[in-house]
Order: sequence, then structure tokens, then C-alpha cells
Amino acid sequence: MEILLAREMGFCFGVRRAVEMMEEATQETGPMVSLGSVVHNPQVVERLKDRGLDVIASIDQVDTRPVAITAHGVSESVVRKLEATGATVVDTTCPIVTRSQQWAKRLTEEGFAVIVYGDPNHKEVKGVLGWAEGKAIAVPSIDALDALPDDLPGRVGVLSQTTETEGHFAEFVRALLEKRMDQISELRVINTLCNATTSQQAAAEELAHQVDLMIVIGGRESANTQHLAEVAREEGCETFHVESAGEIRPEWLAGRGRVGVTAGASTPDSAVDAVVARLRELAPA
Ligand code: F3S
Repeated sequence: MEILLAREMGFCFGVRRAVEMMEEATQETGPMVSLGSVVHNPQVVERLKDRGLDVIASIDQVDTRPVAITAHGVSESVVRKLEATGATVVDTTCPIVTRSQQWAKRLTEEGFAVIVYGDPNHKEVKGVLGWAEGKAIAVPSIDALDALPDDLPGRVGVLSQTTETEGHFAEFVRALLEKRMDQISELRVINTLCNATTSQQAAAEELAHQVDLMIVIGGRESANTQHLAEVAREEGCETFHVESAGEIRPEWLAGRGRVGVTAGASTPDSAVDAVVARLRELAPA
């Protein structure tokens, strides 16, 4: 069986930067905490824990240790509350997410109703909404557009969760226009998609055409990993999303000539190496 790797995959620059900043901070100042999981990847979280980084779930648990804001970012009010605790703050918010937050703030200040295309329960989206004075709305799908308030202001700004696919975002904007054209006097669409994610998705799409099976590696909760799997499935390729090599079942490989491997933006190289080794073990070339 042949194993093909996606030409772009794995750790994105935003996650790499966040992990490095946290590693440096623990080295310089000793034990610290991060507000929520650093990345959607249990192995990376474990490695940082060994270096002295504990994960806390809320600001109430902040003590004297420095606090890291993770790559997904937080709302403006959380930033202010953290500052008020007097703790040292290590802000590892990905610059691409910061850009999205700044657009949410700016559009709100300019009087636009802000719509964020994305999962309302995802940390990044919650953070972005929190830069819009509580006025922005997250809409997860085209169907959910029907639940938008009837009295939507005439000026509408649209952003996207950074990990969405280009195709889905374009369809979403088109559907919004179709459904609310009579109400919208001005529409501003800000492309807040992440380049790293977009190129990984393009590489996954390309690979899905060349193989009989795709293995997508990444945290179960990782939005960008879920989207990679979605992209491969949309190309008609059978796809399994795994967190680690141990999940790969021998029966998945029966009768396959070529298997493609890709990995989400928070998946370390070691997880990819382990999956490739497991595939070779189960189905030697
Ligand atoms: Fe940033 Fe894109 Fe990674 S938004 S955290 S570079 S997936």
C-alpha cells in the first residue's frame, strides 16, 4: 500500500508561535496557567503540562502565576478582567484571529450589524463576538440565517471563523444576500479566512483525488481538522478523522492501494509520524 502525504499539513504558524511563546514563558518565569486548552491537541497539552503549564477553565482560578491567552483569543472583556487581576498576561492570540477581532470592533463602531459565519460554541468565535459590544451574531449555517432577527439593521458586516472553507463562506454570503436583499442597504464582507487553513484544505482536496482513503489527524474538537475531513469527504473520498495512530483499524485498509494522510493545524509532526508508522506496520508496501 502506498502512503501519500498532503503537500501542506500540520502545525500552522499561529499554533507554532503560541506553543513557542508558552514554552519560552515557562522557561523564563516558571509555572504558569493558560486560560483554556492551548490547542485542540491532547499530546501538545500534555507536553506543555510537563514544562509547568496548567490549564484553567475560568478567570476565577487565576492566582499569582502568569496567565496565557491561547491562540484562539478571548473577548475584550476577558482581556480587561485579566489585566485587572494584576497577573502577567502572555497573549498568544494568533495574529489572524486578532485581525478578525479588530474588524468586529471596527464594524460595530461604524454602525454595522456584524454577522460571524461560524460555530457559536467555538472559542475563537465567542472571542470575536466579544469585541463587538455584545451586538454581533454567530450564524453556523445557511439554514440558520432564517433565525436572524427581522429588524436587522440595513448595514451588515460579515466575517468568517478563520478555519471555514472558501467555498462555504462564499455560499453563505450569497445566501445572506438572497434572503435579505430587501433589507440590506450596504454589505461589507471581510475575508477573515486563514491562509494556512485554506492552503491545507486545497492540499487535502487535491490529495483526496489521488487516493482510495484519507486519514485526517487532529484533535476531535479541532475545527480546522474537522473541516479538512469535510473537504476530503466532499471530494467523494472515504475519510477517517483520528486523534492518534492507535485508532487506525486494520479493516479500514483492506483492499486499499493508496492512502492519503493530512493533519490539522494543531497536530504536531510526531503524531503524523506515528500514523505513517502504524499504516506501514498494518499494510507494508
Ligand atoms: Fe492562526 Fe490559522 Fe493557525 S488562524 S492559529 S494560523 S489555523
